[in-house]
Amino acid sequence: MVEREQWSTYSGFVLATIGSAVGLGNIWRFSYVAGENGGAAFLLLYLVYVITIGLPLVIAELTLGRRAQGDAIAGFEASGPRSSWRYAGALAGVGAILILSYYSVIAGWALKYLIGAAFGPLWDQAAQGYGQYFRTFISRTGEPVIWQILMLGASVAVVAAGVRAGIETVNRWLMPLLALIVVGLAGYSVTMPGSAAGVIFLFAPDWSAIGRAEVHAAALGQAFFSLGIGMAVLLTYGSYMPRGFRLPRSALAIIIGDTGFAIISGLAIFPAVFAFGIDPSSGPELAFITLPQIFLQMPGGAWLGVAFFFLLSAAALTSMVSLLEVPVSMAVQRLGATRRNAVMVIGAITLALGLPSALSFGLLADIRIGRHGILDAADAVVSNYLLPFGGILIALFVGWKLKMGEALSESELGQGWLGLVWLWLLRVLAPLTLTTILLRSATAL
Ligand code: PFF
Repeated sequence: MVEREQWSTYSGFVLATIGSAVGLGNIWRFSYVAGENGGAAFLLLYLVYVITIGLPLVIAELTLGRRAQGDAIAGFEASGPRSSWRYAGALAGVGAILILSYYSVIAGWALKYLIGAAFGPLWDQAAQGYGQYFRTFISRTGEPVIWQILMLGASVAVVAAGVRAGIETVNRWLMPLLALIVVGLAGYSVTMPGSAAGVIFLFAPDWSAIGRAEVHAAALGQAFFSLGIGMAVLLTYGSYMPRGFRLPRSALAIIIGDTGFAIISGLAIFPAVFAFGIDPSSGPELAFITLPQIFLQMPGGAWLGVAFFFLLSAAALTSMVSLLEVPVSMAVQRLGATRRNAVMVIGAITLALGLPSALSFGLLADIRIGRHGILDAADAVVSNYLLPFGGILIALFVGWKLKMGEALSESELGQGWLGLVWLWLLRVLAPLTLTTILLRSATAL
């Protein structure tokens, strides 16, 4: 058996975990979910859930991974390898492939827009309007699949190169660059005339939205999706962490990095949306229909468009890589596969599973699951059920199944009040809140 790799530096590890967390969720999903759920009120609830449930779970996942020094299945082994908790690990592997299957479709859209913005075709489409342009594109049969394959292929190449040479290197280059781009875009956006309304929308709470159950559900779902908790991604990255890295500090860095990124991309998007008098609740289309229209009308807009869609595609890539690593690490450890073979086979399975999502606005548009088309249904299942369910399992396992002393020492939180607060948040608050939200989603069907 080949020796298990480890991250080469602390900063490389933290950048990789932030790269996993920062993705389409922070830019494409955060902006439209916040727009639909009352802006600042949503943001406030989002922050509350990130701190009370997100942070404890991030620490829990990293703890399980580092303790196991193995894949997600090993992460759920408490006393011996025979317990049925192992199925929780296996579920995470399947879940990660499911997320990747539709996530790669949207990532493919971002890549198409990037290439279109860089080489001009995107800007030639203005006459017919971007609504028409976007809908024609996603309803074609071949094109969305080709862009999806390109994004999946790039992720496969990175993961095949290994934890250090692939994942760590790519994140080390891309993440600082993406931070520069998003700060630059936000700076440009907030200095536009008429942008103040957008800043107010993002930061001044509409208190009536705070009491609405669906705003709570949306905030919690977004926190899970954005941090990428529940599907053992952080567990798997944590398993390549050497003993010397400080665990709670890394968890804090992930939370701050991810939330900071979401807020700053909100500052890049909403002020511009308001400056052009557009309704902020235009839904998932915001990034692909509203924004190109805005770029077109701005001085230097073509460059801004290239920067924005590069940001979107690259952020998606670093998240896809982390999702792919979960089943790949399992195949390498359990089946004795080489990393290269594992990643190729899993990449192919993901593509096959993702085809229905890629075709869900064209060839397969008539297939409806409840109110949703296939891609939207996959996203709803993942955010409303799969991630919260994974979160419950992790909270219960660390809170109740691991020995208390072991959980406290492995997490480095220790026996003091900090460790106890963490443990009780995992034992009680996280499972109760998540179960409530799960049941609510199930009854609202
Ligand atoms: N956190 C990523 C994003 O915000 O786009 C997506 C994601 C990664 C979701 C990992 C779930 C996951 F397990």
